[in-house]
Amino acid sequence: MEESDSQKRGVSVNRIEILEKLRDFAAEGMKNNDPSHDFSHIQRVVSLSLRLADELPRADLFLTEAIALLHDVCDDKLAFYNAADGIEKLLQKLEVPKDEQKFILDGIGSVSFRKQPKQPKDAPIEVQIVQDADRIDAIGAVGVARAFAFSGHKGYPVGTAEPGSTIRHFEEKLLLLYDLLNTEAAKKLAARRAEFLQLFYREFLTEIGEG
Ligand code: ADP
Ligand code: NI
Repeated sequence: MEESDSQKRGVSVNRIEILEKLRDFAAEGMKNNDPSHDFSHIQRVVSLSLRLADELPRADLFLTEAIALLHDVCDDKLAFYNAADGIEKLLQKLEVPKDEQKFILDGIGSVSFRKQPKQPKDAPIEVQIVQDADRIDAIGAVGVARAFAFSGHKGYPVGTAEPGSTIRHFEEKLLLLYDLLNTEAAKKLAARRAEFLQLFYREFLTEIGEG
């Protein structure tokens, strides 16, 4: 059988099975979410996190992937029950060592922009990576698509710049994310997406007569 990327970086087969269970749990927990927060977001955040971890060899791949898989299952803004208890029970059942259970649960809690706009520089590298990956998925073309998907779902105004509109969300959050990235690897990966976001934003304002 061909080795996965995680196996090549020394993640044991047992741990790969644990990650598969966490993946199933996240997919199940997010299946009724709106398209801005569906499981495809998780898949992109996992893939971006592993790309960043590739450039940061001190990052533990198992912990990085576990936090990436679970980081939005507990989002209280979403129509999913508070899953922190469920995650803890699952990690126990899968016999993840206690210190790693705590690391993962703390990590999930500090990825969010709202809870943690400024990640302390001494946050574990795995948490910094997943937070960066989560932010990268909120900018660029995918970020634009997600913002409008979220707005459509909520019924927020789309083609205007009035308070509460989607383009105001660009100013309040999306356009700020690039400068908040923790790692140089993320800045490199996100530079083109940040430029595209700026371009889209300026074009949008021009088209509605505010540019
Ligand atoms: P985090 O998970 O970092 O807390 P959020 O859950 O607030 O981030 O946002 C995740 C996604 O939802 C992003 O793609 C973001 O653009 C979109 N989103 C959140 N709030 C709004 C809003 N008011 N208008 C448009 N999109 C939004
Ligand atoms: Ni997320």
